[in-house]
Amino acid sequence: MQRNDEFLYRLVHANPIEEVMSGYVNLTRRGRNYVCNCPFHSEKTPSCYIYLDDNPHFYCFGCGAGGDVITFIMKIENLSFTEAVRILAQRAGMEVPENNSRDAQYAKRKTRIYEMNRLAANYFYKNLLTGKNKAGLKYFADRRLSPQTIKKYGLGYSSDSWNELTDLLRSKGYSEDEIIDAWLAGRGRNGRLFDMFRNRVMFPIVDLRGNVIGFGGRVLDDSKPKYLNTGKTPVFDKGSNLFSMNFAKDAPVKRLILCEGYMDVIAVNQAGFENVVATLGTAITPDQARLISHYAEEVIIAYDSDGAGQRATQKAINHFADVGLRTRILHMEGAKDPDEFIKKFGPNRFRMLIDQSFDANTFMLDKCEEGLDLSTEAGRVELLKRSAKVLAGIESPLEREVYISRTSKKCDIPVSVLKTHIDGLLRRNSRSERKNEWRSITTGTIAHRDDINPESARFRKEAKAEETILTYLMMRPEDSEKLTTLIKPENFVTAFNRRVYESMLDKIKEDGKFAVSMLNGDFSPDEVGKICGIFAKNRDFDINMSVVEDCAAVLAAYHPPSDGAISDEELLSRFKSKRK
Ligand code: UTP
Ligand code: MN
Repeated sequence: MQRNDEFLYRLVHANPIEEVMSGYVNLTRRGRNYVCNCPFHSEKTPSCYIYLDDNPHFYCFGCGAGGDVITFIMKIENLSFTEAVRILAQRAGMEVPENNSRDAQYAKRKTRIYEMNRLAANYFYKNLLTGKNKAGLKYFADRRLSPQTIKKYGLGYSSDSWNELTDLLRSKGYSEDEIIDAWLAGRGRNGRLFDMFRNRVMFPIVDLRGNVIGFGGRVLDDSKPKYLNTGKTPVFDKGSNLFSMNFAKDAPVKRLILCEGYMDVIAVNQAGFENVVATLGTAITPDQARLISHYAEEVIIAYDSDGAGQRATQKAINHFADVGLRTRILHMEGAKDPDEFIKKFGPNRFRMLIDQSFDANTFMLDKCEEGLDLSTEAGRVELLKRSAKVLAGIESPLEREVYISRTSKKCDIPVSVLKTHIDGLLRRNSRSERKNEWRSITTGTIAHRDDINPESARFRKEAKAEETILTYLMMRPEDSEKLTTLIKPENFVTAFNRRVYESMLDKIKEDGKFAVSMLNGDFSPDEVGKICGIFAKNRDFDINMSVVEDCAAVLAAYHPPSDGAISDEELLSRFKSKRK
């Protein structure tokens, strides 16, 4: 991206950060600012702040993510700077100035993959409907998919050929390397390309913006592997996307049905439920749980009724709890998965199943009974032990009461005894939680900070002074000249802060003003986060010129250790960093 600060100013102005962010997270007003649950790490109480002053930006005190609206889009959509700028320009109806950087090349590469994927999806779809070989069409018909469903999902069929798609893409001007890049072909030992997907029914995977990002392809018989999925490409990562999320995100209901497979999702959707998704051949990841939490308040897990499905359910419950989603569990009898259930019993019975789905607590408590003989004392004691852990994990006191009384009946012990026991556990938990929180603040965040400015640990006092000066400069760019006579960049002790100071001074000299956005070209998103953290942590202090003078004095008092000789402190810190 050629630096064009004037354009960036207009862009950032045209895309108010609170508007853009509220498309992804729920913002709550706090004074002049906003807070929200951080979309970049799992949390239940908000620690992400959005500051709306001359320099609108966000900063999460929990994980250290931060930046302006451009950094936000880069991080949440996993895009490069140029791509994020493009998206925001589109949103505001602005024209982006031309450019030629490496970033732009990467954006181009992704665009080419989107194009190839779209061509491939079209080809698979046409081939399914009008190709000579009707095997794919017959397969979907056998699985009771309607023509509308096939069209809606753009399902397709890949021919039993080694080169049909590759030849098509080549004829459209895509190079062999590009086709391989898109994971649509591989290179054989003879050096020739071969189509990756052959003789499979095809499920295009579409992202939230409507791009085809990859495919799942299923064999028509019982051969292995049953599904072949697109591998990692610049546009596809199976751990951060969800199948059918492009439809589910617009569903008016704030609850989402989560299935295990492509076919389940399609069957449930065809039965009249728009709010259904599946992972892409992996267990659910924290990323995906977070994505869901942006669109829903409750998840209904409709995994297979087999052992694997049940184990996966327990894991998923934990991920959802981490992001504050309520979870309910669908309990299917007489069918192994939602697809089979609907085929056997129809959509109405499935709707009843959803209404009767029970909450995660009941599921977990029922699991506690597995393998125990409740007619024996030992069995009931073990059940009590296992249940107590689950009960202590229930956050709402009211709900907890209900389950405590239920469990006390099952284990045949007085409610009051069980309650006292749980209260004890809770006190212990909250103590260790506070400890953990503190630990993560002291280790997590500082470790995070160290990555970006490793010297700040060694030169604590000096780094603090530098950060105060940077904050002052951000708030009063008009004082930059006065500041430079007092403190030169070379007075800065830590290299990172020096770089920030230099860059800020440059920008202010050029434009007479400063915006967090201007940092995006010179600093990585993590670095921008760190810089926003500096501002966020210092902004509430009253920093005036006399404070700045004190800071200047701290920096002036610093003398680097003379050549060769290493101070004790330095030696110690080197020793420490070796050991780490
Ligand atoms: P299932 O075997 O339950 O598949 O795997 P399904 O979607 O219900 O398909 P049908 O009904 O047998 O046709 C669940 C999911 O696990 C992934 C796919 O995403 C599938 O939808 N999977 C399964 C793979 O990625 N590879 C495989 O070989 C099998
Ligand atoms: Mn199935």
